[in-house]
Amino acid sequence: MLNFNRNRAQPRAGRALSLGGMDYLDSKRKSNFVGKIILAAVLTALCILIIKQSPSLSSPSPFSRHEPGVTHVLVTGGAGFIGSHAALRLLKDSHRITIVDNLSRGNLGAIKVLREQFPETGRLQFIYADLGDAKAVNKIFAENAFDAVMHFAAVAYVGESTLDPLRMDWTFRKYYHNITSNTLVVLEAMAAHDVKTLIYSSTCATYGEPEKMPITEETPQAPINPYGKAKKMAEDIILDFSRNSDMAVMILRYFNVIGSDPEGRLGEAPRTELREHGRISGACFDAALGVIPGLKVKGTDYKTADGTCIRDYIDVTDLVDAHVKALGKAKPGKVGIYNVGTGKGRSVREFVDACKKATGVEIKVEYLSRRPGDYAEVYSDPSKIRRELNWTAQHTDLKESLQTAWRWQNSHRNGYGSPLAMDS
Ligand SMILES: NC(=O)c1ccc[n+]([C@@H]2O[C@H](COP(=O)([O-])OP(=O)(O)OC[C@H]3O[C@@H](n4cnc5c(N)ncnc54)[C@H](O)[C@@H]3O)[C@@H](O)[C@H]2O)c1
Repeated sequence: MLNFNRNRAQPRAGRALSLGGMDYLDSKRKSNFVGKIILAAVLTALCILIIKQSPSLSSPSPFSRHEPGVTHVLVTGGAGFIGSHAALRLLKDSHRITIVDNLSRGNLGAIKVLREQFPETGRLQFIYADLGDAKAVNKIFAENAFDAVMHFAAVAYVGESTLDPLRMDWTFRKYYHNITSNTLVVLEAMAAHDVKTLIYSSTCATYGEPEKMPITEETPQAPINPYGKAKKMAEDIILDFSRNSDMAVMILRYFNVIGSDPEGRLGEAPRTELREHGRISGACFDAALGVIPGLKVKGTDYKTADGTCIRDYIDVTDLVDAHVKALGKAKPGKVGIYNVGTGKGRSVREFVDACKKATGVEIKVEYLSRRPGDYAEVYSDPSKIRRELNWTAQHTDLKESLQTAWRWQNSHRNGYGSPLAMDS
């Protein structure tokens, strides 16, 4: 008000002065006036720009609102091996995907591949965050309208878990924190923000070394390493919570996951420093590529037909399909627990032979004593998942699964490139 009144008085005074022949004063006032208008226009434009860029004030992001007919799935650990394959399939099935990953073990290159495949607005967003940071996780849930969560994120190496179950290194915490307490953080955020469906990545390691094979969902869980124990504790937390909740919960206990995208877009690219704890397929490919001199098979005196461990190898394409089926059949207030395996045990020796055939390389094999934390024989009874979710493994030829994975490994000798870079 004060400014307005003063401005109105000025022209009168200016006119009076110009009558006295002082024109420059009048033009000075005019230019002041124009200057103020320009300033006001600039300030207004700035305000509009700020309002437009502010996420809370601009038109809402498609990720922040529920849309009929669109399922928005939060994929934790979606920059990792299984999570990225799951995200690809969910995107293909027209779901909306948010990936949350701290890139401690995943690759930004995988996110780039997914973005290239599905560049449209509202299909895929990536959020860099650590699930151990409850405040950050809550903010993510507050700003996004999730319909379901597929919780893949975890550190997932049996050997590493035995050597290093607790440690907090410079990047992130390990097994009990990373698996058990982070699952609690995710579950609490889901409950607080009314997200109704959880598909949880569990493992056959929660069974330990059962006396009777095959393993059914009723087989007692007695894990023998920190990885299996941390996953079992996470399952227990989920089950306790679900007893008094209308959340739809599916717990999938995977057996040993191999293979990769049949179209060669994604693969498995673990950190180099994890090689010593690595999974058997990674070691086979490293040996075939000459990155390591040969394979070390740990344990030849197990009570199995050829003395080496027996495992049930499930192709990642089948595993992802089990998640899609679980999502489709998840029911409010109900919990489904399923083994995801082929039902067929294969020895390490068999696996190595298949790997030699798949790669065409005569891999050198060294036989050593047992590794702590390993169990002799593990294979699933997948009849419950077949009966209730209408799922059975389709890719059960070891050599074929390994051939698919090998094609990606051979053409991506450097994995996705640097884990934090977008180049592959
Ligand atoms: N690969 C297998 O054979 C197998 C078998 C049974 C169960 N699983 C389970 O499947 C899930 C996925 O395993 P994977 O083989 O894809 O492992 P992976 O290491 O390739 O992927 C895990 C992803 O989680 C991310 N992550 C880890 N800690 C995180 C945190 N605190 N915050 C945010 N992101 C984090 C990593 O960066 C990585 O991208 C795990 O839960 C694992 O326990 C795997």
